Amino acid sequence: MSWISKAELVAAVSKAGGVGILATGPLNAEETRAEIQKVKKLAPGKPFGIGATLLMPGAAENAKVALEEEVPLINVSLGKPDWIAEEAHKYGGKVLCTVTNAEHASKAIDNGADLLMVTGHEAAAHGGDVTSLVLVPSLANQFPDIPIVAAGGFADGRGLAAGLSLGADAVAFGTRFATTMESPLAQHTKNVIASLDSTEMKTIYNKNFDGIPARVLASPAAIEANRKRQAFPVVMWRAFKAAQSMGIPLWKVIPGLLTQYEKMYAVAQFGAATEAIMAATVDGELEKKGVQFVGQCQGLIHDIPYVDELVQRIVSEAKQISQDNAIKFGCHYDDSNKQSYGT
Ligand SMILES: Cc1cc2nc3c(=O)[nH]c(=O)nc-3n(C[C@H](O)[C@H](O)[C@H](O)COP(=O)(O)O)c2cc1C
Repeated sequence: MSWISKAELVAAVSKAGGVGILATGPLNAEETRAEIQKVKKLAPGKPFGIGATLLMPGAAENAKVALEEEVPLINVSLGKPDWIAEEAHKYGGKVLCTVTNAEHASKAIDNGADLLMVTGHEAAAHGGDVTSLVLVPSLANQFPDIPIVAAGGFADGRGLAAGLSLGADAVAFGTRFATTMESPLAQHTKNVIASLDSTEMKTIYNKNFDGIPARVLASPAAIEANRKRQAFPVVMWRAFKAAQSMGIPLWKVIPGLLTQYEKMYAVAQFGAATEAIMAATVDGELEKKGVQFVGQCQGLIHDIPYVDELVQRIVSEAKQISQDNAIKFGCHYDDSNKQSYGT
């Protein structure tokens, strides 16, 4: 959640009882260290994590900073977590790997993952082909010894209760936390996501935007950007421009691009998307070039609450639903909230 999951939002989530995860995609090593230290200051002693999308230039350096800072949780995606896990385990840190299928999950576990972020088709950005309703229980069955965080499509107490029922140990909320008061997402983009017009139907999922199947808000600019696979020279040019605007030296981008053609195209396309994401996320521009990652759960989001209020609401809804369901199944609760089975 580049430019969104910054220290303030991460600290708010961790203080509210969750585990905020800092996005480091657009940050260099120095900025990553400053943001980590800010989270520690804003939410002292609270658990938090950082994201390391290893396909992005600079991600490995940022992960090294997180290891030096002994960040409790490192969320690795699009890359091998082995060296991160080895270092994190030395100080008791844990590695959470984002996976979209059983093959990913198996490789992640073999390479040191402690937990899996199982990301379904509904998710913002890079969810897989299978919906959370099937993917979460399937991976929970196949990997019973590893804690699972369900991601993709969860936005309220019903989602939390459902995710836990599906076999997850925790549930992740991306689009929902992006649409809160503490989120630095551009106000216009927040308003669009929370509006009644932005239903679960108003997203696009395909690989033309950044080279990996990704879900974005169906804004005019996104419809255009997803229309067709862009020509290679255009992608390269936009990737270099994006790297330049983020202060990433070209010598760091080029080696990654030169490994092989398809990979080169994919990495370049990934980088090229940066400009469009920034326009939507930072400037709130959705008409001409801004493309916003968003999940189908935008159809469930109709307000912009403070994080603490939201977390309390989600937890109390989930508890109520669990109690209502228990009653439907013939159980009842006594005053001490202990579950007992009825006749
Ligand atoms: C605005 C936004 C930006 C995101 N950016 C990234 C990203 O750069 N890399 C990534 O792996 N996931 C990214 N995600 C996906 C989240 O990490 C998470 O998997 C997803 O939001 C969960 O689905 P949900 O939105 O339905 O809750 C992003 C999500 C949002 C809402």
